[in-house]
Amino acid sequence: MTTEIALRPFAAAPRAPYPAHLVEQTGLADGTPVTIRPIRAGDLPLERAFVVRLSPHTRYQRLLSGRKLLPGELRRLTDIDYARELALIALARHQGRDHMLGVARYVREDSAEQASCDFAIVIADRWQGRGLGEVLLRRLLRAARADGIGVVGGITLSTNAAMIALARKLGFRAVREPGNASVTELRWQAGDLPPERILHS
Ligand SMILES: CC(C)(COP(=O)(O)OP(=O)(O)OC[C@H]1O[C@@H](n2cnc3c(N)ncnc32)[C@H](O)[C@@H]1OP(=O)(O)O)[C@@H](O)C(=O)NCCC(=O)NCCS
Repeated sequence: MTTEIALRPFAAAPRAPYPAHLVEQTGLADGTPVTIRPIRAGDLPLERAFVVRLSPHTRYQRLLSGRKLLPGELRRLTDIDYARELALIALARHQGRDHMLGVARYVREDSAEQASCDFAIVIADRWQGRGLGEVLLRRLLRAARADGIGVVGGITLSTNAAMIALARKLGFRAVREPGNASVTELRWQAGDLPPERILHS
């Protein structure tokens, strides 16, 4: 769940179709209607507007560094190959326009031994702590499981209490990285998810 996701080159294989079955209208516990859907190449302006508004703290937690995403990386994050990656975005409608509130993504890292992926998630600052991270990550895990992925993994800063608590809530194991206590490894063995709170729809 780091910059490697942003830096991976374009895959040469033919593109899989848009996973339209993952489009969903839902809502947060406070009643805010939210659309969740896989990202598409045309979302570049939405993604750019989302990223530039992230606070330095949130950006640091997401990238594990203070750097900014380059234009090519933003394109790479929106124009994805659905055969091996997925990015679910959350949108809210305000004054006739869609606004991106958050994104959760995975990239497959299959090996000869197991089907696995690396995940990342970031929620816009003013939308954090309102249940959206859980809504997005649940749906990402369900999609990964349905795609035959057995293990979802990632790393986060050991000081990132929110990410570690969210991950544990959804059944991840969180273990300090050997030799680098500032980083915590998160690992979800595909299985059942705890029941979801009833959401507005
Ligand atoms: C980490 C992050 C994804 C969590 O998403 P969120 O929308 O803020 O979290 P939610 O409101 O969905 O909370 C879900 C659960 O996470 C935990 N949680 C969320 N915020 C928390 C906080 N500040 N402290 C402790 N636990 C917290 C709780 O278990 C919560 O469940 P509860 O409401 O039943 O107690 C979000 O805060 C974020 O984008 N942070 C910056 C980027 C980042 O850290 N990304 C992680 C990649 S390294």
